[in-house]
Amino acid sequence: MFVNHIHYRAIWPESNFKSVSIIDQTKLPFHFEHVQIDTLEKMIHAISCMQVRGAPLIGASAAYGLALAMLNDSSNAHLRLAAEQLIQSRPTAVNLAWAVNRMVSHLTHLLPHERVSAAWLEAAKIADEDVEQNRMIGQHGLALIAQAYQEKTFHILTHCNAGWLATVDFGTALSPIYAAHDAGLALHVWVDETRPRNQGASLTAWELGQHGVPHTVISDNAGGHLMQQGQVDMVIVGADRVAANGDVCNKIGTYLKALAADDNQIPFYAAVPSPTIDIELAHGRDIVIEERHHDEVAYMQGHTADGRLQSVRVIPVHSNAANPAFDVTPARLVTGIITEKGVFAPNQLAKGIG
Ligand code: MRU
Repeated sequence: MFVNHIHYRAIWPESNFKSVSIIDQTKLPFHFEHVQIDTLEKMIHAISCMQVRGAPLIGASAAYGLALAMLNDSSNAHLRLAAEQLIQSRPTAVNLAWAVNRMVSHLTHLLPHERVSAAWLEAAKIADEDVEQNRMIGQHGLALIAQAYQEKTFHILTHCNAGWLATVDFGTALSPIYAAHDAGLALHVWVDETRPRNQGASLTAWELGQHGVPHTVISDNAGGHLMQQGQVDMVIVGADRVAANGDVCNKIGTYLKALAADDNQIPFYAAVPSPTIDIELAHGRDIVIEERHHDEVAYMQGHTADGRLQSVRVIPVHSNAANPAFDVTPARLVTGIITEKGVFAPNQLAKGIG
């Protein structure tokens, strides 16, 4: 990703291999700040309070979290404890458990003193693989867009943030958009604001702007109307977990967009790297959905004219709020799943990714 024309990844190890740096996503789009994370506890905090978020990025972050844990104590007991704590830090995105389990299997058979350097190497491998998978998703998605493109502006609607910031680089849902824009296709992106945390309004809009992709932020309720008006040609979203039958679990509100797309015969794609596909899980209905704090619904954060980030209450003081963070879009509403290995109909996914 380029920020002010400088290349960044969303997470990177510092050269002393004693800490990793992240971009603090709770401060965007108003402040671009790096934070150095040098302990397991700080990484768990960064994941749970969403300084880092997005399924592939929390997978890579958890892998680096285990490397930090090994610096402090590389015993079997600490490896197990750190793994459990990381897995519990956010339950829905399968990439997190996938990355932690991969790290644990890699480290378990080594002697404790060998684990520190092996953990940094394996975490870096997970990060590099994520970059390559997302780059390939971009190429397969570009082919889909190019096929549907008719020499006039092509309008894509996306939900939440499944861009650079949600991965180590390139993004998932936004990777085809960047590839198509770079190939010279005229694109415009409708960006769902994505209440309650506004990842669309704050993160997707910011990173599309950094890349120069034309976009418009819309309220979460506008997508159905725009589809009826013929102003959406394709929907592309990311996912936190995809079941073997092609059910797509993604940020709350995705299901409503899939229903509206289906009603208007608009293709609806989920873009996911293979670690997001939970082949052991037969149906999406069995996914544990993270219920986040009700204050995320009761309050909104914004930027004051004098440059401060401020939180304001937007519901009555005595009203309750509920905050399920994800929903499941049934496979019947999904046109295809864009992976690094190609684009598959939901019922061909398990076979396709092998
Ligand atoms: O709660 P978040 O911001 O971590 O949720 C992120 C999403 O739902 C994304 O759409 C999903 O992780 C795909 S990220 C490539």
